Amino acid sequence: MRAAVQSMKPYVPGKPLEEVQRELGLTDLVKLNQNENPLGPSPRALAAARAALMQVHTYPEGTARRLRERLGQLWDLPADWFLVGNGSDEVFRLLAEVYLEPGDPIVVPAPSFSAYRFVGELMGARVVTVPLAGWSMDLPAMAEAAAAHGAKLLFLCRPNNPTGTVFPEHALRAVMERIPTSTLVVLDEAYREFDGTPFDSRSLLLDYPNLVIARTFSKIYGMAGFRLGYGIMRPEVLAPLLRARDPFSVNGLAVAAGLAALGDTEHVERTLALTREGKAYLYAAFDRLGLPYVPSEANFVLFDVGRPAAEVFDRLLSRGVLVRPCGSFGLPHHLRVTVGTAEANARFVAALEAVLGGE
Ligand SMILES: Cc1ncc(COP(=O)(O)O)c(C=O)c1O
Repeated sequence: MRAAVQSMKPYVPGKPLEEVQRELGLTDLVKLNQNENPLGPSPRALAAARAALMQVHTYPEGTARRLRERLGQLWDLPADWFLVGNGSDEVFRLLAEVYLEPGDPIVVPAPSFSAYRFVGELMGARVVTVPLAGWSMDLPAMAEAAAAHGAKLLFLCRPNNPTGTVFPEHALRAVMERIPTSTLVVLDEAYREFDGTPFDSRSLLLDYPNLVIARTFSKIYGMAGFRLGYGIMRPEVLAPLLRARDPFSVNGLAVAAGLAALGDTEHVERTLALTREGKAYLYAAFDRLGLPYVPSEANFVLFDVGRPAAEVFDRLLSRGVLVRPCGSFGLPHHLRVTVGTAEANARFVAALEAVLGGE
C-alpha cells in the first residue's frame, strides 16, 4: 500500500437505502440523508436510458461527445471546455491525479464536502484546511492560504455542503485577483440549480483561466445512481485530464439520460417548487421547536439539536427517518436533512418532535 493510502481516513458516504433496510428490518423508510431528488429521476431521462439499453452491448463513445456538444450550446462555450465524468467525483479525482505531486499543498474549506480532502490525501498532498467564518466560506483567508503555501488546487463549494450557504460573485472576483494564477480554483456547483441568488459562473470562467467549475446530474436531475457530472475549464487545463482518465468511465445509458434530462424543464421546475415549499415548511418547524438552523440555498438544511446529535440521529432512524449526522463534518450537535416530499418532510418533523420531546 502507498504511504498516502495507508494514512487516509476512508470516505464515509450516507447510508444507502438497502443497507439501512437490511440493518433495521425497516421497509417504510424516509431517506433524507444524501440530498437526492425526492421526485426521482426525470421521466424523460428514464425513457432515454430505456431506449439506450438496446446499445448496451457496444462500448460508449468515451468522451460523451454528444453531451459535451449540448452542454456547449447551453453554456455558449466550446465543447472542448467540458469534461464529462462518472459523477463530479471523477472530475475532482482526475484533477488531483493529474495536477498533484506528493507533498503539494491544496486548500480546502471546512466544514465542506469531504471529496476535496479525500482526492488530495489520495495523492499524498498536504491539505491546508481553512475554517468557515460563521457559516460562510472565508474567501480572503483561503486566498491568503493559497498564496502563502503556493497551493496547486483550491476547492470551493457553492452552495456549500453541509451549510447550504453561498458567497456573492463580487467576493469571488475580489479574491481571484489575489490567488496565484498557478493555483487551479475548483468551484463545485453541485447544488447551483437550487440557488436563487445572482451568480454568473460563465463570465467567471471567461475572466479567470485558472478557474474550473464542476456540475452534477445527481441532484436537480435526480440521477445520482447514473453517476454523471462534468467539469468546465480551458482546453489547456482539460487536455491533461483526458490522458489520465479511464476511457469508458461514463456509460452510454447515463449520457443518453443526461441529454434528455437537460431538456426536461418541467421536472426541474417541479423539483424547484417542491424544494422551495419544503424548505419553508422545515424552517417553520425548526422555529416552532426552537432549533437554530442555517438558511440554505440548496436542497438540504443544517440544524442544531443542542445536544449530541448522534443520539437524535439514532432515535430518528428507529422511527424510520434517515438524516445525515454531521460529526464527520466537525459539527457533533448538528444534523443535515434533505428537503423531501411534503409527506416525507411531515414524517421527519413528527419524528423529530417526538424524539426531542423525550418520547
Ligand atoms: C458538494 C457536492 N459535490 C459533489 C457531490 C457529488 O456529486 P456526484 O454525484 O456528481 O459525484 C455531492 C454529493 O453529495 C456534493 O454534496
